Amino acid sequence: MTISRLTLQNFRNYPQLRLEVAPGFIVLSGENGAGKTNILEAVSLLSPGRGLRRAALKDISYENSDGDFAVAAELGDVQLGTGTSAEYPERRKTRVNGAAVPTNDLAQWLSILWLTPAMDRLFMEGASGRRNFLDRLVTALEPNHARNCARYDAARRERNRLLADEYMPDTEWLDALDGQLASFGAAVAEARVRITEALNIRLKITDDGLFAAAKLKLDDNDLRSENALQQALRVNRQADRAAGRTLKGPHRADMTVFHGTKGQAAEKCSTGEQKALLFSIILAHADLIAEKRGSRPILLLDEVAAHLDPRRRAALFSKLAEKGGQVWLTGTEPELFKDVPDGALHFQVAEGTITKC
Ligand SMILES: Nc1ncnc2c1ncn2[C@@H]1O[C@H](COP(=O)(O)OP(=O)(O)OP(=O)(O)O)[C@@H](O)[C@H]1O
Ligand SMILES: [Mg+2]
Repeated sequence: MTISRLTLQNFRNYPQLRLEVAPGFIVLSGENGAGKTNILEAVSLLSPGRGLRRAALKDISYENSDGDFAVAAELGDVQLGTGTSAEYPERRKTRVNGAAVPTNDLAQWLSILWLTPAMDRLFMEGASGRRNFLDRLVTALEPNHARNCARYDAARRERNRLLADEYMPDTEWLDALDGQLASFGAAVAEARVRITEALNIRLKITDDGLFAAAKLKLDDNDLRSENALQQALRVNRQADRAAGRTLKGPHRADMTVFHGTKGQAAEKCSTGEQKALLFSIILAHADLIAEKRGSRPILLLDEVAAHLDPRRRAALFSKLAEKGGQVWLTGTEPELFKDVPDGALHFQVAEGTITKC
């Protein structure tokens, strides 16, 4: 799973860009605002979802363009492409080897994990960010998860619409919809449980003291089985109708992350400790993906070098090098990457242009 060429069109501050890359480290350095994170964001859009900024599609297109952007990547013989078109500006279209496919299918081709400065707030903010993070971890291992989440959300929106009708809708219709919701919802919830358990085991094995090993705990939720979910949906129809939304189900799930050795919840840990917990999760998850899918995921590490002390930074680089795979790194100073092993590709980014060093 490595990109050999990345091509951008009308993407953020890049009217056009073509970047030849290779497995191993890809280091992007340059001043603030140069366009480093934009490159990582483009790569992140080669996975399902809204990418590492969770941006609206309309904000992604180059400001002076006609509104459509495109990201294309070659992975050996396979060509992936995604972007918007004037016909469907609100939805991105995706192609694999020239054939249109659902965007969620991208997960079949690439697993991409990222760490960004914005994720420093993951443990402090609302449940939706953690749910999204967890779902990305699950999708990277089980590509069907993205589709199950989308089907669950679509069924839930349809149910909410029905319940909002002036007259209580036809029971048979609601029963059928609840059945769908329960089936997709249970698939989503079970996959989350499966991956959390596998990840916790992996976190214990990979704990080398470099980054505090995390422990994940899904919040107690007795609505994981299809039957329980269907039952709850039926019982809650009136309450959901009054609230104007579905009050219970996997779309409300949350998880708590603990510092493995201290046993303290991540939200009470220091900023540095929280960052280390995220590192440990991403690194253990990358190992899990390599084991289960047979190749390492692409890692997008935005500005991580600047936040690590020199010892941890060097240890991280050598650990990543030992494991292989493609790792994209950004930072303002080339100096931060002096311990990146030989053979890395270094690029200087300046105002939407990229030069190989
Ligand atoms: N749709 C767009 N069209 C044109 N330019 C954009 C668009 N969206 C963002 N930009 C510009 O892209 C520039 C680069 O952003 P980016 O976040 O990639 O910088 P960076 O190199 O990661 O900087 P930092 O070191 O501060 O993180 C910003 O100056 C921003 O104004
Ligand atoms: Mg940046």
